[in-house]
Amino acid sequence: MKKKWWLDTVVYQIYPKSFMDTNGDGIGDLKGIIRQLDYIERLGVNVIWLNPVNRSPMRDNGYDISDYYDIDSSLGTREDMEELICEAGKRHIKILMDLVVNHVSCEHKWFQDVLQNPESPYRDYFIIRETADGNAPNNFRNYFGDSVWTRIGNSNRFYFHTFAKEQPDLNWENPLLRQEICDIILYWQSKGIAGFRIDAIGNIKKSEKILSECKVPADGEDGLANGDDYLLNQPGIGEFLGELRDKAFKPYDSMTVAEVSVPQKDLEAYIGENGFFSMVFDFSYADIDTNGIIKPCEFAPWDLKDLKHCIYQSQEDTQKVGWAAPYLENHDQPRSVNKYLPDGEIQYYSITMLGVLYFFLRGTPYIYQGQEIGMSNYPFHDIRQFNDIGALATYKRAMDAGDSEEKIMDYLRRRSRDNARTPMQWSDEPYAGFTEGSPWMPVNPNFKEINVKREEADEKSVLAFYKKMIRLRRKSEYKEAIVYGFFEGIETNEAEDFIYKRIAENQEVLVTINYASRRRPWCVERADYDILLNNYDSIESEMQPYQAVVFGKK
Ligand code: NOJ
Repeated sequence: MKKKWWLDTVVYQIYPKSFMDTNGDGIGDLKGIIRQLDYIERLGVNVIWLNPVNRSPMRDNGYDISDYYDIDSSLGTREDMEELICEAGKRHIKILMDLVVNHVSCEHKWFQDVLQNPESPYRDYFIIRETADGNAPNNFRNYFGDSVWTRIGNSNRFYFHTFAKEQPDLNWENPLLRQEICDIILYWQSKGIAGFRIDAIGNIKKSEKILSECKVPADGEDGLANGDDYLLNQPGIGEFLGELRDKAFKPYDSMTVAEVSVPQKDLEAYIGENGFFSMVFDFSYADIDTNGIIKPCEFAPWDLKDLKHCIYQSQEDTQKVGWAAPYLENHDQPRSVNKYLPDGEIQYYSITMLGVLYFFLRGTPYIYQGQEIGMSNYPFHDIRQFNDIGALATYKRAMDAGDSEEKIMDYLRRRSRDNARTPMQWSDEPYAGFTEGSPWMPVNPNFKEINVKREEADEKSVLAFYKKMIRLRRKSEYKEAIVYGFFEGIETNEAEDFIYKRIAENQEVLVTINYASRRRPWCVERADYDILLNNYDSIESEMQPYQAVVFGKK
């Protein structure tokens, strides 16, 4: 693979609303990010991905944009954004924005015009169908659980939405709309943005079927049917994506990471040498506990063998054609320590083991704010504590289907996206030092123990370990293997052994993990290797509980 600038990156993801508040309104802001740039620099990353900051009514916390050229006033101004790009640049940190172009906010001027004027010039920017009987064209369900169709006023016209009704889908079949999107991308790149994380991009092409008048057999009490097969990665999507690559991203050599699960057969088109994107996020291990589930509030069973299989398979598939984007957390996931570790076993060794497990895989590692200090899920106990449009929709759908309050709350406690959206824990001061006002989301009560200030002063903290991992990847003599090396998963037939190598021409790194709370025998020959990183102080005759060691071949 040719060496592109974005191969040598570690990304820190910031959820601006919950990162750092500087004006006391309880909502994080761009000035807060600027204030914490030194922290981010000390961490050692060289790219920041910002969740959406454009103007938005915030029904889905910015994933409903009402003006692509402006910054939401709750987060700051265009000048703040320019200052952030400039200040980050001084620290050799590049900024990625979130590009949300499958849909807009219903408050976007294009959509407002359509609502007011059936002959609006923007009519064909959206997907609108008129039915003779005044019923929705079909009964497919959207990702948040309702119909994909919402009626316009009292008319027989309906608009299509993959997500909530406040997020009308854009009609990518329209070349004028596609040009508008290119212009938006070019505009922000001209301001110094280095690339984008691209939201829901697999959904931009719709099948004939999901747009047609057809009633399909329902798969739930709500009379609706899952529409994934007609809504994701549809034939013909490549034409739109190729156009975007050539007209918008290539001129700036941007870094692009797409939020889309791609079947193996299509991976080359997406991330190959002339792929649509630099990399794509793989959902297989992030959603290991929910994959394939259609009913609300159900979990998919999984074990360590499954987890290993997902990770290794994803690495092998990806390296045949391109570059990966390993991650444990993001703003749509609960905290990784709660997902991947048994209750009662969340502690320094197990948390750092999880870090090692994904951080040395082949690809650009993503760290979600708070992951680097070991933040955990919030102890939600009342549905009124949730903010997420998705959590509230799940609650309603499950209640309508007759699930018990207890079952639903148990599910949301473990799975809600709000777990990732509680304020960043900076110190043991009130509200964890996040705000001087009253925070928009509650602060996790464990902030007195888990916070940046305490961990920065502690050599043996999760934060100190993350800094070591980042330094090892970016600055050590083993960089060639750790960044660019080939991935080789080593099987021992023991589910708790996670062992892999990273192999470059003249270098080799061996990652050895004991994913268990008990001591277990070593399963690798270590004589030829030096220790590069170890979450314990020493190497004993057996592996320690949750021990994770990175070795470098002598
Ligand atoms: C994926 C985003 O990550 C998520 O937060 C959002 O709700 C949907 N796309 C809709 O934009």
